Amino acid sequence: MAQLWGGRFTKETDKLVYNFNASISFDQKFYKQDIKGSMAHVRMLAKQGILTEEERDEILEGLGSIQLDVECGKLKITSEYEDIHSFVEANLIDRIGDVGKKLHTGRSRNDQVALDMKLYVRDEITELDDLVKKLLKTLLSIMEENVHTFMPGFTHLQKAQPITLAHHMGAYFEMFKRDRGRLADIYRRMNTCPLGSGALAGTTYPLDREYTAELLGFDGPTLNSMDSVSDRDYVIELLSALSTIMMHLSRFSEEIIIWNSNEYRFVEIDDAYSTGSSIMPQKKNPDIAELVRGKTGRVYGALMSILTTMKGIPLAYNKDMQEDKELTFDAIDTAKGCLALFTGMVGTMKFRKDVMENSAKNGFTNATDAADYLVNHGVPFRDAHGIVGRLVLYCLEKNIALDDMSLEEYQAISPVFQEDIYEAISMKTCVEKRVTIGAPGPDAMEQVIALNRKYLEEN
Ligand code: ARG
Repeated sequence: MAQLWGGRFTKETDKLVYNFNASISFDQKFYKQDIKGSMAHVRMLAKQGILTEEERDEILEGLGSIQLDVECGKLKITSEYEDIHSFVEANLIDRIGDVGKKLHTGRSRNDQVALDMKLYVRDEITELDDLVKKLLKTLLSIMEENVHTFMPGFTHLQKAQPITLAHHMGAYFEMFKRDRGRLADIYRRMNTCPLGSGALAGTTYPLDREYTAELLGFDGPTLNSMDSVSDRDYVIELLSALSTIMMHLSRFSEEIIIWNSNEYRFVEIDDAYSTGSSIMPQKKNPDIAELVRGKTGRVYGALMSILTTMKGIPLAYNKDMQEDKELTFDAIDTAKGCLALFTGMVGTMKFRKDVMENSAKNGFTNATDAADYLVNHGVPFRDAHGIVGRLVLYCLEKNIALDDMSLEEYQAISPVFQEDIYEAISMKTCVEKRVTIGAPGPDAMEQVIALNRKYLEEN
């Protein structure tokens, strides 16, 4: 048991207590961040004359060699150490002797862990952003190819009005674009450096906090040492943003599962992203989409957990906060995995354009347009709504579509209908007439695609 704090104790820690308290099994995940923070701290201590340049160089070299050895597997991070901070310090002292004992001058594990977690989360935000961006690129290329692919748009999961596949994908594009915005906001807001806050009240050493902040790529130091060591707001914000990303992925997965079903057959998930059944030879299951939908609960759980953990904690640091890590790591890894797999699945999925278009034709998705036709010929909308309702009833009885009715049949219900009704309710017209920005009309869609292409180039 390697501990940093044995001095005032007369008894050994109980083994169970030691294990319960230890965090090495999970905080080893940020050994790199811990070493990076220590290197900046040591550089600053030397600049301020608290360490000599020789001491600084010895410590830097020692820290560098620990990192290399961990990376190549020569040095194992084991449960013999309480946490990653103890591991690094103990190994440093092993390697360079007493000089290593000076590393922790003017520092506490409280500001150290606050820094490590921030550095870790910051790196992960960049990786998450990359993954969301890849998904956006995939969606944009589907949009570019499907401006004229008709499909039904739904409300209440009932066919409502015709749209295009580009338009449907575009809805998700906007959601994931906002998700990136949220990640960027969090990064910007959290980017202040807690190092130098000590245990809670700063230190008595002449630390240069601006300097360490700058070395570590922060916008500046945090402005209250108590807040610095007890702030986990950014973790909550990140878990909330991840929950929203997962919620979007989950909705999308749900649609893909429906679209991939035998009843819909709008899409076919690639073999590489499907799984079979051990008993039913005919099955090709959308397991990836289902798992993404299922894993959403895990990420929501992490958010609920940290919110609950933080709600009763008095200032400043309390050990409860050690509970922030495992859940955050798991939520980040889950979201990253889901984003990567989902992007692969969508990118290789086949869209059955003919099935989509047929489906849009057989569901009265042009009923609103038939009513609009009457309105354009002077019929008040409420009356037009009633007339088209009767048309639909008539078609349902005869099992035909509005497009299949003869002009005589139309005129028997309303004399306002003329030969041009067929053109007015054709799928092409229904979609192409929707020209306002944000609508599925191909011209409007092309404008949005151009804006989003530019957005991806610039962001
Ligand atoms: N393992 C601890 C954590 O994750 C590090 C900070 C320990 N500080 C302390 N005062 N015990 O929060």
